[in-house]
Amino acid sequence: MKAAAIVSIGPPGVLQTMELDEPQAGKGHVRVRVKAAGVQPFDCAVRSSGWTPPGLQLRFPQILGNEFAGIVDQVGEDVADFSVGDEVLGWALLACYAEYVVVPAAQIVRKPKAMPWEEAGVLSASGQTAHTALKELGVGSGDTVLIHAAAGGVGTFAVQLAKAWGADVIGTASERNHEYLRSLGAIPVAYGAGLEQRVQAVAPNGVDAALDAAGDDALRSSVALGIDRRRIGTIVSFELGERLGVRAIRSERSKERLAELVALYAQGKLRIPIRCVFPLEEAASAHREIEPGHGFGKVVLTMS
Ligand SMILES: NC(=O)c1ccc[n+]([C@@H]2O[C@H](COP(=O)([O-])OP(=O)(O)OC[C@H]3O[C@@H](n4cnc5c(N)ncnc54)[C@H](OP(=O)(O)O)[C@@H]3O)[C@@H](O)[C@H]2O)c1
Repeated sequence: MKAAAIVSIGPPGVLQTMELDEPQAGKGHVRVRVKAAGVQPFDCAVRSSGWTPPGLQLRFPQILGNEFAGIVDQVGEDVADFSVGDEVLGWALLACYAEYVVVPAAQIVRKPKAMPWEEAGVLSASGQTAHTALKELGVGSGDTVLIHAAAGGVGTFAVQLAKAWGADVIGTASERNHEYLRSLGAIPVAYGAGLEQRVQAVAPNGVDAALDAAGDDALRSSVALGIDRRRIGTIVSFELGERLGVRAIRSERSKERLAELVALYAQGKLRIPIRCVFPLEEAASAHREIEPGHGFGKVVLTMS
């Protein structure tokens, strides 16, 4: 099969398209013919630094990519709820920039017919991170929530979920993404010096919870705003987060969580904005797009 894999640690050019053996679906697993796969900062971090979460080891050539959508083409023993031909989306660590991925059946859900492949391919990782974080912060009706890096992949979903759950949302982004944030239902504010004053100006009654998807400065601003530290979470700055006594949040993925996101999409309560689409062969260009850390929505690879 064709796959985009790294042959060493380094700049985007180490991500190359190559022919690799097709994986086979074992017991409890399905094989999916991938149609689209999301590209995330996580993938760039693995490629550029060799960093992996505990328990994962790189093996060169190492395929990247954590989220996908496609068509089931093999069903292993003991899988009762999926058949060949089912259209699905799901997640699998370091495996999705490829024409085929093998995953436990517990890591996929059915794709609504009307959901485009590009959109389905980028929901499972960032969407579940946003969902995990807002649940951990107890976001709900009556809350005013501050989301740092609101225009990015995680922020885009976090803004919409918080709105869907009844909260008012303030989102930080550079000026060029403010109209985008308004379109998602957030009140935009620019990040950088003076952020706290700008937030106070649009939230005179205070902010109840904050999610940091940007880094140290954003986290310090949330603390400076006087938000209850049990309701401040970071998905980026774990060291500082620990020192400040706020929540360090790591995505917890489950079939139920993903199914809830898909249901919200089907009800028209969750949009999946795509910033740009690259063919699998241009995975390195997708990394060049993501790596600077600016822009809105999701970046996606498609397989022909
Ligand atoms: N802990 C976890 O489980 C977990 C899971 C997923 C992601 N993450 C981490 O979360 C972060 C965000 O991921 P993502 O996928 O959303 O990234 P992304 O799609 O690349 O988006 C990055 C966003 O950051 C914004 N930004 C840049 N500098 C900023 C600043 N100083 N203050 C506020 N916003 C700023 C950009 O907005 P502008 O274009 O307007 O500058 C852009 O929209 C990454 O560091 C990623 O590694 C952690």
